[in-house]
This record gives sequence, structure tokens and C-alpha cells, in this order.
Amino acid sequence: MDFRYKRIVFLTGAGISAESGVRTFRDSSGLWENHKVEEVASPSGFQKDPVLVWKFYSLRRLQAAEAKPNKAHATLANLLHDLEKSHSKATLITQNVDTLHERAYGALPDKNFLDIHGTLSRSRCTKCSKVYSDRWAYFDATGKSVDIHADDLWSNASLTCLLTTPKRNANGIPLSPCCTEQLRPDIVWFGERPQGVEKAVEELTRCDLFVAIGTSGNVQPASNFAAVARKAGAHTVCINLESPENAGAFHEHLLGTAGDKLPEFLKKI
Ligand code: APR
Repeated sequence: MDFRYKRIVFLTGAGISAESGVRTFRDSSGLWENHKVEEVASPSGFQKDPVLVWKFYSLRRLQAAEAKPNKAHATLANLLHDLEKSHSKATLITQNVDTLHERAYGALPDKNFLDIHGTLSRSRCTKCSKVYSDRWAYFDATGKSVDIHADDLWSNASLTCLLTTPKRNANGIPLSPCCTEQLRPDIVWFGERPQGVEKAVEELTRCDLFVAIGTSGNVQPASNFAAVARKAGAHTVCINLESPENAGAFHEHLLGTAGDKLPEFLKKI
């Protein structure tokens, strides 16, 4: 199979997971599950109350494990498999932490997969930054200290996997096997640098097609990616329910759900 485009970059956001019922963290009043964003998603919030943060992310892990990849994830995963057998190259950049791309793909599209906001299925040592595959929920929905293996989350074969629940401190915070220091979710919090941005920019400046799916275009750095690709000469396409904030950066707008519009668009390439 051959494709019209030779280097394709896909960027996805919360909208691609909407049809899987993944709840977006942020509601209109700026609260996440009744917590201020900075309480549960910032380094200072973790320093102040790591138990609250782990309760919050334990719930996120349980909800993500229940969600299933939808038609848009499956369409994209099939395309990535087809592209691997062709002369074209694709890179998938996601802002989502829900592991649904990996689960739809059936493996980790490692080299060409950038989860720039981290993922729910990894933890990181707060001392040495060693990263682990971690599918445990350490607290249940009522805030009770438990050990639930959120089985359906993706595990990364190239990382040490916390197959048995790690040691915990007196407050129930999981401790890293490497340094016996607190583990934190490997999620990019407010005020932190997204992961893999240099590699993302490298791909953006070399691509001939850029497709953004289900992202509102108001969170940096991803909101800039379309402009970077366009400036480098790529055709830029946006698939979204509504016009995004960075609409001017796109040549083509396909308004509708990702499940409908993505398969339609891919037929054309
Ligand atoms: N199909 C396509 N697009 C959809 C669908 C759907 N079924 N449902 C919603 N959308 C669109 C919305 O119209 C919106 O423009 O998806 C976009 C989602 O926007 P956001 O919720 O802002 O998500 P995202 O752009 O991924 O946010 C970026 O912000 O909250 C932080 O770190 C978090 O990664 C997230 C980042």
C-alpha cells in the first residue's frame, strides 16, 4: 500500500477519547473532581498533599482502565500498522494520558509515539526519576487505601513493571524500588515541561501532512504544532467537533466527531 504523503504527524487531544466516555478532568469552573487544578496537578500540590494527589490519580487509573478504545483510536491504529508496511512514516503525538492509543494499537508504537503529557500507566521516582510501568490504584473511589491492579492499562515492556504492589509509606504513598523514595505519577503537571517536545518539533518540521484530532488548540506547546508544520510546508488538517482556537493554522477543517470524520479523511490519503 502506498500513501500520497510520505511523512505524517498526528496530534490528538481529549476529543478523540470523548466517544470512549473518558471524563475530561477540567470542568467549566476550573475544578477537577472538586479539587483546584493546582492541588492535584502541580509539583507544589504533590509536595503539600501527596495522598490527595495519589487518591486523585488512582481514580483516574481506574476510570481509564474501564474505558475502551473507540472507532477513531482503532482507525488510527490500523493506519499506523498500514503505514509501517509502506514507504511513508507516521508519528503520533498525544496529549492524552489515558493509554487508549496504545491499547488500540496492540503494542507500544515506541519510536514514533510521543505522549507529551505523560501517561497514567507510568510512575516515576521522585529522587532519581527512574520510570516504571505501574498499573496500580493505591486508593479506591472512597479514598480508602487499597491495592487494585488496573489491569487494562497499557504496560510498557521496555520499563521495569511494578507487577506486585510496591512498598508504601505510613500514609499509603507508593515508594520506588530503586531509592525507596516516593513515587509520583509520570504525568506532566502544570508548570512542568512536556516530554519529547524536541523530537516532536523535529518531526513537525519534516512532515508533509499534519492532522490534529480532538484538541481545542489552547494548551501550549501542542497548540503551536500546526503552525510549525505549516511553516515547514506541510498540509495541515483539523478534525474537531468545533473550530479550535488555533483555526488559522489549518488549511482544512473537518468539523464533526473523530469517529466519523477521521475514517472519511483517511480514505482520501
Ligand atoms: N470528536 C472530535 N472532537 C471532539 C469530540 C469528538 N467526539 N468531542 C469533543 N471534541 C473536541 C472539543 O470540541 C474540544 O475542542 O475536542 C476538544 C477537546 O479540547 P480540550 O478538552 O481542551 O482537550 P485538549 O486540547 O486535549 O487539552 C489539552 O489540556 O487539560 C489539559 O493536559 C490536559 O492534555 C490536556 C490539555
